[in-house]
Amino acid sequence: MEIPKVKIPITEIPVKRKNISLFIKREDLIHTEISGNKFWKLFYNINSYWEANPSNPLLITFGGAFSNHIAATAALANELKIPSLGIIRGEEIIDKWQHNPTLQLAHKKGMNFRFVTRQQYREKEKLTQWLQTEFPNALVIPEGGTNPLAVRGVQHMLNSDTKKFNYLCSAVGTGGTLAGLVKYCEEHQEVLGFKAVDDPSLQERIRLLSGRNNFSLWDAHNGRYGIINEELIRFINEFYEQYHIPLDPVYTGKMMKKLFELIDEDYFPEGSKILAFHTGGLQGIEGANTMLKKKNKPILEDQ
Ligand SMILES: Cc1ncc(COP(=O)(O)O)c(C=O)c1O
Repeated sequence: MEIPKVKIPITEIPVKRKNISLFIKREDLIHTEISGNKFWKLFYNINSYWEANPSNPLLITFGGAFSNHIAATAALANELKIPSLGIIRGEEIIDKWQHNPTLQLAHKKGMNFRFVTRQQYREKEKLTQWLQTEFPNALVIPEGGTNPLAVRGVQHMLNSDTKKFNYLCSAVGTGGTLAGLVKYCEEHQEVLGFKAVDDPSLQERIRLLSGRNNFSLWDAHNGRYGIINEELIRFINEFYEQYHIPLDPVYTGKMMKKLFELIDEDYFPEGSKILAFHTGGLQGIEGANTMLKKKNKPILEDQ
């Protein structure tokens, strides 16, 4: 993989409060299919694997049926013309995956699937060992792509333009993205992570991966991972109407909503300069809308 030459835009979201400025860095625009943080988390993982020059290369990774990371890994494997295997959580979708837009997309990119029970999925270490024995030449990438090489890749989301901000914000799933921002940001910067998942181990994982403490974590998950309520849908639709920036309902929508709440509650001191990272995930909108329609709920408007 090469570092793309595209200049990622940083766009202002006007905030009428205490001289606070809020900007969003459109990391989602880095690649149409390997979007946002996924590109950077895969970057050094793939390059170091590639340098090792494996014969019969194969990419294996893990995820749920709507996983952005599964979609991104499949697209990358397709671009590199190597096979890929997705270990998918939930045996119950074995006969229905053709109706799931994320898995359809990944399959179109050539990914094969192996569906495992939730219990087997939880025992990922055992599963990883088994996969590595079964496929000794394969690169087995952890769930969400998070590992030390992923953290290293996230440094590329920061540049001379991001230095002028006091606060950096990102949605959090497995913690690799936030750990990268925390590790590579400037001394004067503080990092806020908006948790899309109720995982108490995130604080320690991010501290260990980054080696720093200059961050705080905020719940943005509405109780548990993947909950999409009507308030959130309304927020994302209004956000798009006002700023013409699409947000996804699992990560970036939840981050922006909670960030707006913190601004309204005067969490940030006068004159703060805040930068939120748009980490992509827009492929998930179609799957979310399919589910919302089945439940007769309002959907995310065409973005
Ligand atoms: C759109 C989006 N935002 C944020 C995240 C969270 O990243 P991480 O798992 O590194 O915490 C993910 C997961 O990769 C994602 O797909």
